[in-house]
Amino acid sequence: MSKMEVKTSLLDNMIGVGDMVLLEPLSEETLIDNLRKRFSHNEIYTYIGSVVISMNPYRSLPIYTADKVEEYRNRNFYELSPHIYALSDEAYRSLRDQDKDQCILITGESGTGKTEASKLVMSYVAAVCGKGQEVNKVKEQLLQSNPVLEAFGNAKTVRNDNSSRFGKYMDIEFDFKGDPLGGVISNYLLEKSRVVKQPRGERNFHIFYQLLSGASEGMLKKLKLDQDFSKYNYLSLDSATVNGLDDAANFRTLRNAMQIVGFLEEEVHSVLELVAAVLKLGNIEFKPESRVNGFEESRIKDKNDLKEMCELLGIEQLVLERAFSFRTVEAKMEKVSTTLNVAQAYYARDALAKNLYSRMFSWLVNRINESIKAKTTARKKVMGVLDIYGFEIFEDNSFEQFIINYCNEKLQQIFIELTLCEEQEEYIREGIEWTNIAYFNNAIICDLIENNQNGILAMLDEECLRPGTVTDETFLDKLNIVCAEHQHFESRLSKNSKFLTDHSLPHNCFRIQHYAGKVLYRVEGFVDKNNDLLYRDLSQAMYKANHRLMKLLFPEGNPAKVNLKRPPTAGFQFKASVGTLMRNLQTKNPNYIRCIKPNDKKAARVFSESLVSHQVRYLGLMENVRVRRAGYAFRQAYEPCLERYKMLCKPTWPHWKDLARKGVEVLFKDLNIPEEEFSYGRSKIFIRNPRTLFFLEERRRQCLEDLATLIQKIYRGWKCRTHFLLLKKSQVVVAAWYRRYAQQQKYKKIKNSTIVVQSFIRGWKARKILRELKYQKRCKQAASTIAAYWHGMLARRELKRLKEEDRRKHAVAVIWAYWLGLKVRREYRKFFRANAGKKIYDFTIQKIIQKYFCDLKNTIPSMSPIDKSWPARPFQFLEGTHQHLRRIFHLWRGKQYRSHFTEEKKAIYEEKLEASKIFKDKKALYPGSVGQPFKGDYLEIDKNPKYQKLNIVLDEKLLLADVVNKVNRANGKGASRIFLLTKKNFVLADQKSGQVKASIPLPDLSSVSVSTHNDGFFALKLKQASASAAKGDFLLSSDRLIEIITKLHRTGAASGDREPITIDISDEFIVQFKQDKVCVKFIQGGSKNGNSVTCKRKNNRLLEVSVPSP
Ligand SMILES: Nc1ncnc2c1ncn2[C@@H]1O[C@H](COP(=O)(O)OP(=O)(O)OP(=O)(O)O)[C@@H](O)[C@H]1O
Ligand SMILES: [Mg+2]
Repeated sequence: MSKMEVKTSLLDNMIGVGDMVLLEPLSEETLIDNLRKRFSHNEIYTYIGSVVISMNPYRSLPIYTADKVEEYRNRNFYELSPHIYALSDEAYRSLRDQDKDQCILITGESGTGKTEASKLVMSYVAAVCGKGQEVNKVKEQLLQSNPVLEAFGNAKTVRNDNSSRFGKYMDIEFDFKGDPLGGVISNYLLEKSRVVKQPRGERNFHIFYQLLSGASEGMLKKLKLDQDFSKYNYLSLDSATVNGLDDAANFRTLRNAMQIVGFLEEEVHSVLELVAAVLKLGNIEFKPESRVNGFEESRIKDKNDLKEMCELLGIEQLVLERAFSFRTVEAKMEKVSTTLNVAQAYYARDALAKNLYSRMFSWLVNRINESIKAKTTARKKVMGVLDIYGFEIFEDNSFEQFIINYCNEKLQQIFIELTLCEEQEEYIREGIEWTNIAYFNNAIICDLIENNQNGILAMLDEECLRPGTVTDETFLDKLNIVCAEHQHFESRLSKNSKFLTDHSLPHNCFRIQHYAGKVLYRVEGFVDKNNDLLYRDLSQAMYKANHRLMKLLFPEGNPAKVNLKRPPTAGFQFKASVGTLMRNLQTKNPNYIRCIKPNDKKAARVFSESLVSHQVRYLGLMENVRVRRAGYAFRQAYEPCLERYKMLCKPTWPHWKDLARKGVEVLFKDLNIPEEEFSYGRSKIFIRNPRTLFFLEERRRQCLEDLATLIQKIYRGWKCRTHFLLLKKSQVVVAAWYRRYAQQQKYKKIKNSTIVVQSFIRGWKARKILRELKYQKRCKQAASTIAAYWHGMLARRELKRLKEEDRRKHAVAVIWAYWLGLKVRREYRKFFRANAGKKIYDFTIQKIIQKYFCDLKNTIPSMSPIDKSWPARPFQFLEGTHQHLRRIFHLWRGKQYRSHFTEEKKAIYEEKLEASKIFKDKKALYPGSVGQPFKGDYLEIDKNPKYQKLNIVLDEKLLLADVVNKVNRANGKGASRIFLLTKKNFVLADQKSGQVKASIPLPDLSSVSVSTHNDGFFALKLKQASASAAKGDFLLSSDRLIEIITKLHRTGAASGDREPITIDISDEFIVQFKQDKVCVKFIQGGSKNGNSVTCKRKNNRLLEVSVPSP
């Protein structure tokens, strides 16, 4: 819920009354009726002032959610409907903000929901207090202490499946900010008799069943246990499994909780060993054995369980065995050993089991305290939560009920004290006169029980310590004497004769009138239970155990600290601890939760009136209400009071501007409320009777109804008007839109019609124009056609005329020619026959020749000597002339060509001519050379510094310089050589170095041999007798063979002193190398390399040159 400023109150939507103080009239009946009414509406909480009554719903209700926590957080106690959270919040805030230590006292009989209530309080506080890693850990440890204590201290009873069999008081400590720091737990009076015996339909403590069903096989084996419950005497079988209780799962929860609280694994194991030992102990049985002296002595029947138990706890078996058969009594330095009979042995065994278990439980509580204790010494704020058994009234009440009821008497006492005290304080604070309140003070009952001189507990202790035979009967006798006169003590045999005939009071019982009702106690067992005797031999045996925890549990067994004094009795111990508790509670601000269960069947929605009225009575609820109402039933601060009731009078409604108190005064005066009905405190108004409050409430309700009607009326009017205005506005809008739409439609229609009419008119006009245009066009066409026809006719007529004229002219000319011819022929006929024929002939020939020459002049070919073209001959008779003229023209053209030659060009042509003479039609290489000019010097030796030496050798003009291949006779391969030719000799030199290899004078050269093919091979043959002959002939090859040989030939021919060199052209010739003659043979098409010329040595005498086919 958001924090809206809506003031709510407990009084809103109340079912019955939320606070019993407001009950009118007040009686037990109306009180129970109110509880029933609220319970049937799931309102399980009801207040008596600040006390919360809680009914156990026996089903989970959705009232403990996180939302609920938020709802109640930081709200005033009376602001919301009654809830345990309201009380928790009030207590926590008062602790945090006002620094008041708090205690929350939760009482009620078994199964009424005390433990649940205590957990709800703790969880609420945990939810609203501070957060943080450390704080959360503390919270978790505090909360997790519950499952541990419940496993060991709770059991299934007929009244409650998870009944706490011990009283618990827990102090939760907070720092100044209200964050939890830790806690201290105190336990009261564990019901240890349950360890050895359980009433019908009940179970032993949960831990036994949890261990057997939840522990792993390995762990059971270690603890020497068996899963089967029936194997253990101490476990009742008839309700070993409980519906809705999962022992195995709870065991896991327990282990987890122990771990969170901080138990070491070793400690957990030790505790479980003790639990196992208790089970084993229960299985030890005894049998009688007669002694010589006639006494019976007990012996252990089957020692197996004893052995296993001793192994578990590390006890020497013999020691324990002896302790079960003998008992040592020490008196005045004397030790007397007496034997135990079977009954005593069983008593000893059970006493050991009970002690073992209850001491272990106390150790657990201490161990938890050690873990959860606050780690700081700073001052702490404390909130105590007391979850303790409420009044117990059974048919058969014994020592335990007596003790418990005593505790409740004490609690009631401080309740009365504190409530009245608080009440009084408030009156003083508010400046209201204190009127004495008549209430029942139960101090007298407490005194009956706890008085040190003659109180019942003191008498019991006295009996227990008294030498001689002590029985429960002697105890009762004593009471009958000492307490006989007490108003609240009743006994058949007391001196108070009025009970002599009371048959509801058996002889072995006494009755106490507790504040909550009369309770009948049977004295049987009082002495034993108070003694709580454990034979010293057993505690010594336990102390000797080789088990750390056991040693701690039985310190009195330490032989070094033998204490002959009897240990304090149970009653004494309890009185002491109750005393401490009361002193503790008195320092704190009390908050009460009183739990009630609606039925005995643990059923939801069932309300048993008799059961509830019984509880109401012994919880003293009526008493509560009375005390609370003693002065004024109801009080409220001025502000909320005025806020709530201001509508009841005009001056305060709707706003009161002055002080709230004055407002309330005006209000109460206006309402005519009698003055004795209320008092004005400093900050609160006090109302004496609930009647007055209800009167106010009723008036308020009526007023609210009227106001609601008014508001409704105005609201409805406003709503209708707004609706109407809206409709009106909408109507205008709709109408406007509609009109607009209609006009639009109309406009569109007119527009469309206009367009149609317009288009028709335009169409009509256009057609009219078209018709006119078409007519005009036709007229124009007709006119031009007529004109064309007319012009055509005129032209044809003119043409006809011209043609006629031409024909006529021609006819005239023809006629004229004919006529002239006729005239000429007539005139010259006489001459014609003699010479005219010859003359005409000559004339015609002359004319033809004239024309021939004139035409030839125009068609004469170009001046190039190689141009072979010549015009065609026109007349056959001119054939001879025509050829003749062609030859003359060619010669003349040649002459003209030659006349433009220089000397050099002439020499070149002469050489070319010479070459043609030598090679034309003789060697296939020749035609390729015709187009190549003979350059002579291809190497430019004088410009090349590499060939400097050669320049020196050459004193003559160089005719030719080129690179040739010198063919090696041995393999037919060539080597590059420089070939130089001068007028006098030729030189062969190394191409790379310029080294002269041979210099041959031309006169020594006899002939040159070449082939007919398209190759460059040539042999230079030397004269036999010459000086150079010793070098042998040269077989060379060059692409420029034609030029080389022509030049060689010309130098020979030019010098007059020797005959020209013979040029031998054949496909086979002999070359005289140094020693021998080799035949060089040319074969066409023999080459494998396609188009290249190859030379191969065939044998010593034959070199074969393959030339590609042409
Ligand atoms: N507020 C509640 N809402 C729902 N169920 C509840 C509520 N209070 C109690 N119960 C039910 O009642 C049962 C008994 O409650 P609880 O154990 O608190 O009783 P007790 O007063 O502590 O009894 P004992 O004196 O035997 O310990 C719970 O196990 C639970 O089922
Ligand atoms: Mg309980």
